[in-house]
Amino acid sequence: MSQTLAIIKPDATGNGKAGKILALLEEKGFTVKALRMTRLSEAQAGEFYAVHAERPFYGELVEFMTSGPCIPMVLEADDAVPALRDAIGATDPAEAADGTVRKLYAESKGRNAIHASDSDENAAREIAFFFSESDRITTAG
Ligand code: CMP
Repeated sequence: MSQTLAIIKPDATGNGKAGKILALLEEKGFTVKALRMTRLSEAQAGEFYAVHAERPFYGELVEFMTSGPCIPMVLEADDAVPALRDAIGATDPAEAADGTVRKLYAESKGRNAIHASDSDENAAREIAFFFSESDRITTAG
């Protein structure tokens, strides 16, 4: 078993799809190990997505991620990082496979309902970004 970080994004919390997305992830075999709702500040969103700082869509991404509440969560499964990437589908919902979170719930490349860590190293960094040691100890097991 390993862990990864997902974030249900402000488009999905705003249009009432957060519960359906969480249910779909549980149906696909992920176990929720930590979860909270938060509204990111511009500084937090900028730091979280710092790897994209030079991309043309960075400003739009930070603006969107601060536009409403989001729901970061720690998910556990076998090979959690690639399993979650498969479950959420391609960044662009037009290219996402049937049955994936983005095919079902994303509107566009930007407003794409969910984020998932892209490597074990980034999963560890991103989990630590949102959850303290005690959150993870409390929710372990
Ligand atoms: P996410 O998995 O959160 O990681 C980086 C995010 O950048 C990505 O999902 C998209 O929401 C966003 N993104 C990537 N490409 C584009 C794009 N061309 N236009 C707008 N946003 C993008």
